[in-house]
Amino acid sequence: MALVTSKEMFKKAYEGKYAVGAFNVNNMEIIQGIMTAALSEKAPLILQVSAGARKYASPVYLRKLVEAAVEDTGLDLVLHLDHGESFEICKQCIDDGFTSVMIDGSKFPLKENIELTKKVVEYAHERGIVVEAELGKLAGIEDAIKVDARNATFTDPDEAVEFVEKTGVDSLAIAIGTSHGAFKFKGEPQLDFERLETISNLLPGFPIVLHGASSVPEEFVALNNKYGGAIPGAKGVPEEMLLKATKYGVCKINIDTDLRLAMTASIRKVFYEQPDVFDPRKYLSPARDAIAAMVAHKMRNVLNCSGKA
Ligand code: G3H
Ligand code: 13P
Ligand code: ZN
Repeated sequence: MALVTSKEMFKKAYEGKYAVGAFNVNNMEIIQGIMTAALSEKAPLILQVSAGARKYASPVYLRKLVEAAVEDTGLDLVLHLDHGESFEICKQCIDDGFTSVMIDGSKFPLKENIELTKKVVEYAHERGIVVEAELGKLAGIEDAIKVDARNATFTDPDEAVEFVEKTGVDSLAIAIGTSHGAFKFKGEPQLDFERLETISNLLPGFPIVLHGASSVPEEFVALNNKYGGAIPGAKGVPEEMLLKATKYGVCKINIDTDLRLAMTASIRKVFYEQPDVFDPRKYLSPARDAIAAMVAHKMRNVLNCSGKA
């Protein structure tokens, strides 16, 4: 019953060939929905906080909400900084009690990314905290034939090995075709599994992370649009591809967009069907339930981590 690092979680996930869900949190209802699912599924869990979430809710509110979640449920969980863009924000979060931070130096050339990541790793490890880094640029692929474009943005396997060796980082987010948001693919969804397998084979036992891994289920988009939304042409990563990725060393799968879609569809439905409602509890309770149902489904059928807590 505590905040823990992801070290043991990833070791078990790697060996058991499943992934731990890392869900982005911004407010109390999102946290409560996710916790309900983790409790009912007995699943390991990472709650992650972006710089935008810290700005929205303020760091102290989020930290206290996560502490409340641990106290209320008795579950161990990881509190992780998502996409830390500087040493300073990583340091702040570590000093604030986060058990895991991501330093995202993916926009820098390899050498600078290594230097920045190494600096964060040194600070974190001295304090028993784990670090995730990113190598390669997240972007969808329009066409499997565009090999040059893929090589320019996707993670280079040899660089991944060099990066892990030189930084001592605990996990690595790689680019194989996933991307953030609801519009991931112009054509048919596809991930570069060959690249994933190569990287995984070169880094045995090492936890790989997939960002941009929402599936953008058609029913959520349809529900949003049925109740007044206008979300055109959204396409995410098919669930079976995520499940397959867990067999190749992917131990952490990041999900934010699906939470947003589930929550917003539910709120839209209430407003559409009951235009007289103005008590926030009347639309936030079903939204919280929708998140719990969606997360439980992911844990059971996509991450394969139910019963693994
Ligand atoms: O990868 C980004 C996450 O979805 C967080 O998004 O920066 O809007 O909070 P945000
Ligand atoms: P999605 O936008 O696919 O949910 O990805 C979230 C993510 O990668 C957070 O870091
Ligand atoms: Zn991300």
